[in-house]
Amino acid sequence: MTASMATSRASGRGSTTGRDGSMAASSARVAAMNGASAPFIALEQVEMMFGTHRVVDQLDLTITRGEFVSLLGPSGSGKTTILMLLAGFLQPTAGSICLGGKRIDHLPPHRRDMGVVFQNYALFPHMSVADNVAFPLRMRRVGREEIEQRVTRALDMVQLQHLRDRRPAMLSGGQQQRIALARALVFEPSVVLMDEPLGALDKQLREQMQLDIRDLHRRLGLTIVFVTHDQGEALTMSDRIAVFNRGRIEQIGSPTEIYDRPASRFVAEFIGETNLMAGKVTTTGPDGSLIRLDSGEDMAASAADWPAAGNEALLSVRPENVTVQPVGTARRTERVNIMQAKVADSVYQGDHLRLHLDCGQRRMIARLDRQVADYAVGTQVDVVFQADNCRVIPT
Ligand SMILES: Nc1ncnc2c1ncn2[C@@H]1O[C@H](COP(=O)(O)OP(=O)(O)O)[C@@H](O)[C@H]1O
Ligand SMILES: [Mg+2]
Repeated sequence: MTASMATSRASGRGSTTGRDGSMAASSARVAAMNGASAPFIALEQVEMMFGTHRVVDQLDLTITRGEFVSLLGPSGSGKTTILMLLAGFLQPTAGSICLGGKRIDHLPPHRRDMGVVFQNYALFPHMSVADNVAFPLRMRRVGREEIEQRVTRALDMVQLQHLRDRRPAMLSGGQQQRIALARALVFEPSVVLMDEPLGALDKQLREQMQLDIRDLHRRLGLTIVFVTHDQGEALTMSDRIAVFNRGRIEQIGSPTEIYDRPASRFVAEFIGETNLMAGKVTTTGPDGSLIRLDSGEDMAASAADWPAAGNEALLSVRPENVTVQPVGTARRTERVNIMQAKVADSVYQGDHLRLHLDCGQRRMIARLDRQVADYAVGTQVDVVFQADNCRVIPT
């Protein structure tokens, strides 16, 4: 049922797309011929001020055609503002936004070839499901027959054909969100923007929708910019994640890059959980770095370009990479760090065990497979973690 949508996307624009769309599509094709990673969406030095409040700060961001990019960050970090700038509901106070090599920041929303799914669905309550989905096509003056065909196709895509005559109020939250998705896809935009679209759904439905959207992304070759504050969601869905903090990108990379090689304290703490230890880098080299902790111990870490020897830094190790052994049984080697600790607390979490460890002045968390022996509170243990699992990050 999606074959014709995919075909028309691949072979050129439909009859409803204006000149801008055609030019955008053809320059994107040229870009694609020049290299798969040529930018499709490009934000350059974008700034957004609300009065004197700088909400987006000198933002550079490029997105490749067909990519799924998540904007991840805490509430207030500027994610929605960036999406509204892309969609055309806001104008940047400085900088440029291009789609397929063409400036779009002066164009109104309906001329940008982007579908938007809002946080609160924003369906029209007085219209049927089918009329809601048809709305973007009416806006674009598509003929009646073609509207009918496309609405049917879009509703098939989200498996809600049977509800086409209902009003939104008669649908569940999950169904309403699928309708909003169908409405964003119905005019076959080359980009879909989504602002926390799954925030209001319960866990099970949210996880199902994550997979459904991921699947639609792959099948239709969509370019998706997806806003979320949920790190698990970003890790599950994205080709790349841009981590935002106060209107700036702290780090952008694949889920594994972001999780395994956080570039800053903010990223290390925002994505997942981590143990941080302050110290000073003593040596760096191709085989790794050594860091002397403020508490005096020398710890080995994986190779890192930065910070250089002499700099203050943080050693970061994830709880799932920390293990414990009976006291006195672990051996320090060049690539294995050990510490002495006392078990402060042991919390059963169903699929794993969380140990809170007292290492002198420092607290550490170890996340252990529940198969391992339990350690009673007060037990003295050796804490073990591999150098390869330790990152040195700037303070
Ligand atoms: N229209 C507006 N006028 C003034 N301030 C705004 C406006 N929209 C957003 N802001 C401010 O911009 C900041 C970022 O908001 P937003 O982009 O909604 O963040 P996020 O989506 O990451 O939670 C917040 O401090 C918010 O109060
Ligand atoms: Mg928001």
